[in-house]
Amino acid sequence: MNKHITVLPGDGIGPEVTAEAQKLLEEVAVQFGHTFEFTAAHIGGAAIDAEGTPLPEQTVARCKASDAVLLGAVGAPKYDRGPASGRPEAGLLGLRKALDVFANLRPITVFPPLAAASPLKDEVLTNVDFVIVRELTGGLYFGTPRERIQTDHGLEVVDTLRYSEQEIERILRLGYQIAQQRGKRLTSVDKANVLESSRVWRETAERLHAEYPDVELNHLLVDNAAMQIVKDPGQFDVIVTENLFGDILSDEGAMITGSIGMLPSASLGAGGPGLYEPVHGSAPDIAGKGIANPLASFLSAAMMLRHSFGMFAEADAVEQAVQQVLADGLRTADIAGPGDTPLSTAEMGEAVRTRLRATVAAK
Ligand code: NAD
Ligand code: IPM
Ligand code: MN
Repeated sequence: MNKHITVLPGDGIGPEVTAEAQKLLEEVAVQFGHTFEFTAAHIGGAAIDAEGTPLPEQTVARCKASDAVLLGAVGAPKYDRGPASGRPEAGLLGLRKALDVFANLRPITVFPPLAAASPLKDEVLTNVDFVIVRELTGGLYFGTPRERIQTDHGLEVVDTLRYSEQEIERILRLGYQIAQQRGKRLTSVDKANVLESSRVWRETAERLHAEYPDVELNHLLVDNAAMQIVKDPGQFDVIVTENLFGDILSDEGAMITGSIGMLPSASLGAGGPGLYEPVHGSAPDIAGKGIANPLASFLSAAMMLRHSFGMFAEADAVEQAVQQVLADGLRTADIAGPGDTPLSTAEMGEAVRTRLRATVAAK
């Protein structure tokens, strides 16, 4: 197959992990007889520096014209003081909206050889395999008004949590459909004891349940959900939740795998190109050192192969190669134990490509 992939390296460790993910995809193409064409474009701080805006029109156009988008990360301390609209993060939010990728899938699995890297006890980590389905283009992230108001008695600030029923319905439907393809258990997370939006969310989940009777539905309040993810993560199959709750719960879930550097994501919409990015950010504290863990980006590339291209054997091969490097004891610094010599980002990339070749050759 011939596929066109737009690559948005972004900021900090984004370009470091994305370069290795592209090499891995190039290796997949060679091994499986595909042609992947890559076009790079600017986003985030890199786009501000090069083109004066975090989301150049050309970037959006290129993404829309491609089969899938691979993104690194955005954000850098030097932009932290400016207005929100000019920040690198505004580029990412704008792109999600422009591509209408309303569903963000964040799978959380335990890689057994990595159990020691997780702060959780071994017995808590058994049978953990769930996916967070995060609503991505609504809620507090996009609601207006969003402003600072100077009043007679001082500054007031407003953010707005707004959802249409249609936005709630489409993400819940996807949650049900994903549950149908997995363990048939859907946990809807909300704050229905306080928020009106959450009450409509819960009512909608109940109403749609009639259309998905084979799925077991339960509701959790978000504070309890945060606690349950650490106490007994094995209880979950599919968690569906709104934008901000999903952002927070997925970073919490990352520690089940041992590092935020392990967690991939796929952002999907109603038929346009999917956006694939690691859950982690630009990691300014380690950027430029060549030590970032590229595995989240590799696993995001595997999700691209599976969800956007229907290349199931190829996706499996990438995931197997990642499992193999971990089984062989290879570690970047974030997942290394006391006796390990950490690999660089590039060394980890090379190690995964080597195992990919071996996996394919063995078939
Ligand atoms: P972060 O995820 O960038 O980093 C949190 C911690 O995890 C840091 O100690 C970092 O070194 C470590 N880490 C993250 N990814 C790693 C990897 N692949 N390998 C090894 N260690 C890794 O979160 P933050 O520090 O809160 O945010 C930094 C910047 O990134 C901010 O500007 C934020 O807005 C942005 N951000 C962007 C995205 C994105 O582009 N999708 C996601 C989250 C944060
Ligand atoms: C993520 C990030 C983004 C978000 C930021 C950078 C806007 O934290 O992808 O999880 O909050 O969605
Ligand atoms: Mn986040």
